[in-house]
Amino acid sequence: MSPSTAITRESSEEGDDDTPESDYLYKGVKQLSENGLHRVPPRYIFPASDRPNTSVEEQYAPDLNLIQLPIIDFGELLGPNRPQVLHSLSHACEHYGFFQLVNHGIPDDVLRRMMDVSWRFFDLPYEERARFMTTDVQAPVRYGTSYSPTRETVFCWRDFLKLLCHPLPDFLPHWPPSPVDLRKVAATYAERTRYLFLTLVEAILESLGLGIEQQAKKDETEAEEEEDILIKGFQDGSQMIVANYYPPCPEPELTLGIPPHSDYGFLTLLLQDEVGGLQIQHQAQWVTVRPVPNTFVVNLGDHMEIFSNGKYKSVLHRALVNAAKSRISVVSLHSLPFSCTVRPSSKLVNEMNPKLYKDTNFGDFLEYLSTRELKRKDFLESRKLPK
Ligand code: OGA
Ligand code: NI
Repeated sequence: MSPSTAITRESSEEGDDDTPESDYLYKGVKQLSENGLHRVPPRYIFPASDRPNTSVEEQYAPDLNLIQLPIIDFGELLGPNRPQVLHSLSHACEHYGFFQLVNHGIPDDVLRRMMDVSWRFFDLPYEERARFMTTDVQAPVRYGTSYSPTRETVFCWRDFLKLLCHPLPDFLPHWPPSPVDLRKVAATYAERTRYLFLTLVEAILESLGLGIEQQAKKDETEAEEEEDILIKGFQDGSQMIVANYYPPCPEPELTLGIPPHSDYGFLTLLLQDEVGGLQIQHQAQWVTVRPVPNTFVVNLGDHMEIFSNGKYKSVLHRALVNAAKSRISVVSLHSLPFSCTVRPSSKLVNEMNPKLYKDTNFGDFLEYLSTRELKRKDFLESRKLPK
């Protein structure tokens, strides 16, 4: 790399860089990182209060703030121990909003290939990735950087590829044609994670006392219809896969890979490599989720919190970056079809438990997005009813 291509804080501040700031910033952090910069450009520097904790103790003991997530054994959930597993699931959803899914039945090979093809996608020449850059949040494929760069004042240190997945035949022909195996690998991954989602969401409904099996025994046709509609809705539901790419960052203590946010839908399944960087908010602290190979980190999104009328939690989380290694995570986000309304379950609302959230749909979300930057749990907050 020649020194003239290096982008440093000094050159961008003084404006002696040939590339206009907006141009190189919108090309993403992979480009920046490959230019060998030694400082983070000003646009990526978070206000001091939002930066990762870099207390002296933590620098010397990076394991200090590790959290052991509740473990849910998917195989056990399908066996005779289902009642106990449902109990653990309920506890995890109420107190953590996160759990670690083990024994999930997806062959390691399917996970490895998905990670591998994501690496190879981000390794493609910039021009090939840039074909999929768009500001249309409903596009079947979206490549980009940061979170929503057209609205953000501070950018975050990640590039991403988003693929809409369901129904697959509608979206597959739009997915990137290279790497050549991307469509096949990602389609298999989408189908396998979709099955996990459907099985998990049904179990979570059951853990809320809303299982279809229990309902069938009762004579409450209204409630039965609600459950049936929901389960059918999930079968037709939306799914999006996002591959996140976090290149090494020269000053990781000044920025974030993803700022604190909650996820939009019902459930998110996250696969991460061995590098680590995911932190969740637990008991008012940022704690780190250590990667466990071949498992999923599952978290509840805003729709689950709304549907459970606040019993289950959509928890804030963020991603840190580091100076040494690139990191990839692949998340699969699941909800009802975009046309559906999400509302607190009528079975969970009564005199003792008043309805806490307004009905909501994708249109509300888009409208919200069009007027402001998406931060923290602001969208969910905007759906809360006054007490
Ligand atoms: C996300 C997310 C965290 C990570 O993509 O919504 O929270 O560790 N990612 O990549
Ligand atoms: Ni997230």
